[in-house]
Amino acid sequence: MNDQVLDTFDTAQLIPDFNAPQLPSERPDHATLDAAEHNTRHWVSRESGPLTPGSDAHRSETCRMFRETFNPYRPSVLEWPRLAPEALKRIVELPIWDIAVQTEGKARLRMAAYAATVDDPDMRAALALNAWEENRHKEVLSRMVEAYGIALASEPPYVYPKDAEWAYLVTGYSECVDSFFAFGLFEVAKRSGLFPPELIDTFEPVMQEECRHILLFANWVAWHRARLSWWQRMLFELKVVRVWMFLGWERMGLARSMDADGNAQQQDNNFTVNGAQSVSDVDISVPELMRLCLSENDRRFAGYDTRLLRPETMPKLVRFALRFMRKKPSTQSS
Ligand SMILES: [Fe+2]
Ligand SMILES: [Fe+2]
Repeated sequence: MNDQVLDTFDTAQLIPDFNAPQLPSERPDHATLDAAEHNTRHWVSRESGPLTPGSDAHRSETCRMFRETFNPYRPSVLEWPRLAPEALKRIVELPIWDIAVQTEGKARLRMAAYAATVDDPDMRAALALNAWEENRHKEVLSRMVEAYGIALASEPPYVYPKDAEWAYLVTGYSECVDSFFAFGLFEVAKRSGLFPPELIDTFEPVMQEECRHILLFANWVAWHRARLSWWQRMLFELKVVRVWMFLGWERMGLARSMDADGNAQQQDNNFTVNGAQSVSDVDISVPELMRLCLSENDRRFAGYDTRLLRPETMPKLVRFALRFMRKKPSTQSS
């Protein structure tokens, strides 16, 4: 399967025992949408004991959480509201669409490739569903791009990873970083009032889905880690360190190519701070934005069983950084 290019993606082609979820063909009514929204945000295990990382109970409840919080929306029935010219221009010009589409394209393949290597059927099914949901995100984006006439660069071929575990770790930790900032930016966009609420509503399930994805990832990492022998564990931890170094390098590399190429390089992984200006017309300082990212992160995770682990690196790093950032100086009195 090396170097295979997958144009039409099918999770079941990579994971033969995967059953794709059945989706309603009609657009659901408001009550159904509200129920799905509530269901996807709240989940508590029926197990009464602790969910010790690495235990069977931890694995089965993590997978159950992922299954039971599934949101059955169908991309083809999503609403793309007509936009006022300024809002349309603002959306079309966001420098994120190419990287967003390609990130989903890579994520679905990498997750499916790793899922195919997992022996445990429960965990395999959860990771396969995650891959399927990334494919659905890609479809949502394609439909939006079509609805608003956003021009995309042609997509590079998606290459089947040689080291599926490495590729999954890169994707998982990237999602932890990107979702953390995306939660804050999405809230900035929502509060700005520059976009119609229907458009915000259309993207809301995608945002919450990323929260479920990184919740699954954090628990998969802990489960996987706990089941390794001491030497496997050492190799794994080394790999995790290399993944973080790679992510840092990748982001700095992208930032540099932005500087060097100016307009030629439209893709921007370091979109967060510039992005706040693109989705809002109020000036938001970096510490304010970081605090918003933290509170949105907490809000999105609040409804899930507290015995499941949360991704911790980004919230910890940002809380630490905030200790060194001064509050906006108050207006000086004369
Ligand atoms: Fe996604
Ligand atoms: Fe995701």
